[in-house]
Amino acid sequence: MSNTPPMMLRSLPYLFRLGIAGLVITLLGGYVVSGLHLRWHYDNRDESPGLTINDIIGAYHGVQTPSPLISALESGHPETIQDSERAALLDWLRGDRVSQDYDNLDLGDEAPSEIIAVSCLECHTRGGADDGTRSQVSLEYWDDIQKLADSKDIQPAGPEIVATSQHVHAPMMAIVMLTLGLLGVMTRFSNRMIGVVVFIAGCGLLVDMAGWWITREVAGFAYAIVIGGGLYAIGTVLIGCLIVLDCALPAGKRPSA
Ligand code: HEC
Repeated sequence: MSNTPPMMLRSLPYLFRLGIAGLVITLLGGYVVSGLHLRWHYDNRDESPGLTINDIIGAYHGVQTPSPLISALESGHPETIQDSERAALLDWLRGDRVSQDYDNLDLGDEAPSEIIAVSCLECHTRGGADDGTRSQVSLEYWDDIQKLADSKDIQPAGPEIVATSQHVHAPMMAIVMLTLGLLGVMTRFSNRMIGVVVFIAGCGLLVDMAGWWITREVAGFAYAIVIGGGLYAIGTVLIGCLIVLDCALPAGKRPSA
């Protein structure tokens, strides 16, 4: 054991401490902004609003969701429709003229809008759904149908893009945590506690970064990205706040030399 007292933030001149507090606050503010950026960036991968796990899976693994209309028709719903009409609807939905042919007058009675009007609308109108025989799902207007007609095929970012992004993110995020950890042990707060937070955040970051690649193969690993990234973020904020607190609080009794 050396006799030199450990370097403490509170033994630094007050302005120096304020400077450190300002830098750490800026750093945390930067993370809030990248959090927002993340939201906007991944938001629309799965075409449903908000950042969902499917957006993350879409970004790192890709998502294929068949069109709900095709699934319903293929599964034999509704039982009342004639086979020829079911086949006509499926041909239309699987083709690449879905929006053009929806109410194509040239198709006459075979136009999808006609078949749907005759075979589906008794149960699928807007504002239906009371007695349980009618569906919440509306097929009344093209707007309604368009959403159900599309198969979603979200491709993940290519390996080069993931690598480009990671070569910036991994070192930067690791260095941020290292810096905060070092500043953290220079505060008046328990080193053991800071150590536990650094440990958890470090593991979280590792899992997050490895997850970018693992999720390409294993979609379920997207949850690990979220949890790992979340633990890293919580750790950063926690230690950051402790450092700011330590810099702002009065120095109190200085460690005796
Ligand atoms: C006799 C009433 C009835 C008829 C006719 C009918 N449906 Fe349905 N449909 C339902 C009910 C009830 C549900 C399930 C409840 C729900 O999802 O709201 C349903 C569910 C669906 C769904 C699933 C929506 C989802 O949640 O993904 C689709 C798609 C659908 N119907 C398409 C059609 C099409 C296309 C036709 C015409 C070819 C049709 N339905 C005719 C009653 C009907």
